[in-house]
Amino acid sequence: MMIRNPRLCGMSSLALLGGAVLSAPVAAESDSIQQHLDDLQSFQVIAHRGASGHAPEATWSAFEQAEAMNADYLEMDVQMTADGELVVFHDETVDRSTDGEGKLKDFTLDELKALDAGSWFNEAFPDYADDDYAGAQILTLDEVIERFGTDERYYLETKSPELYPDLEEALVEALEDHGLVESGSVIIQSFSDESLKTVHELNADIPLVQLVWYYPEDEGSDTLVEWTDVTPGPGEIADADFQAIGEYAVGVGTNMTYGEEERQVIDADFVEQAQANDLLVHVYTINDEETMQTLLDWGVDGIFTNFPDRLNELVE
Ligand code: G3P
Ligand code: CA
Repeated sequence: MMIRNPRLCGMSSLALLGGAVLSAPVAAESDSIQQHLDDLQSFQVIAHRGASGHAPEATWSAFEQAEAMNADYLEMDVQMTADGELVVFHDETVDRSTDGEGKLKDFTLDELKALDAGSWFNEAFPDYADDDYAGAQILTLDEVIERFGTDERYYLETKSPELYPDLEEALVEALEDHGLVESGSVIIQSFSDESLKTVHELNADIPLVQLVWYYPEDEGSDTLVEWTDVTPGPGEIADADFQAIGEYAVGVGTNMTYGEEERQVIDADFVEQAQANDLLVHVYTINDEETMQTLLDWGVDGIFTNFPDRLNELVE
């Protein structure tokens, strides 16, 4: 697709993005890092927790199906066990998506590995159920990276970083050890701008995406606010708000709708304004083709979806 974002084209280093505000280290030059930034100018299919519409989220089946469906990124949430291991898991508790109960941070890795992270899916989504999913294990980040290597790109979220003071340091170290930063294989996303700025200080070569979540200030209110106050509501956003994000991030990841009533919270103007301020716009989590097509018509730069096969049919 057409190259649109002038800021990211022809740059020699991602360190240029944030150098004015943060005291970032000098970034290593890497053709692969630049290639990643160039690739981000095209539309990106982001497999949300893997192909999690087809298989239990963040399991081998979900990631392998996402790979088979030619997703551009495997999206996953990263948290830390009680014994300091990085694991790929979305919720703060294991209750919804395993047969266990309790806060993830209170489990050791061995205890997490004993849980069944697949059977819930078969019960919740019988149309997609598969006996092979029963007994699926929670995965460590190391396991996922060792399995897919640099053949895949990863879109990693620091999830609930306030619970894990060492999360960013452990994550960046793991990515560096596996060579994923130098190979241009990873984006880090977070709802926490603090978490992203910490990552940026640790390694300025990692592209970052600031997640935002817009919702009504009060029930029935027309006024929208952002969950962590990283921006005003979409109606009030000034160019300076986007530019402040651009000091450390290459893009924003935003919801399109709020709540079961699917109230629309952003529009084409939001996308245009963010892009005019040199930010990529990735939208989560879109599973129906009609909405995917609307976002494609708005010119968004990527979509998170549980069904990368559906999205790829529209863009290929
Ligand atoms: O990371 C984009 C999207 O995944 C954010 O929402 O709750 O699914 O992590 P969540
Ligand atoms: Ca996520």
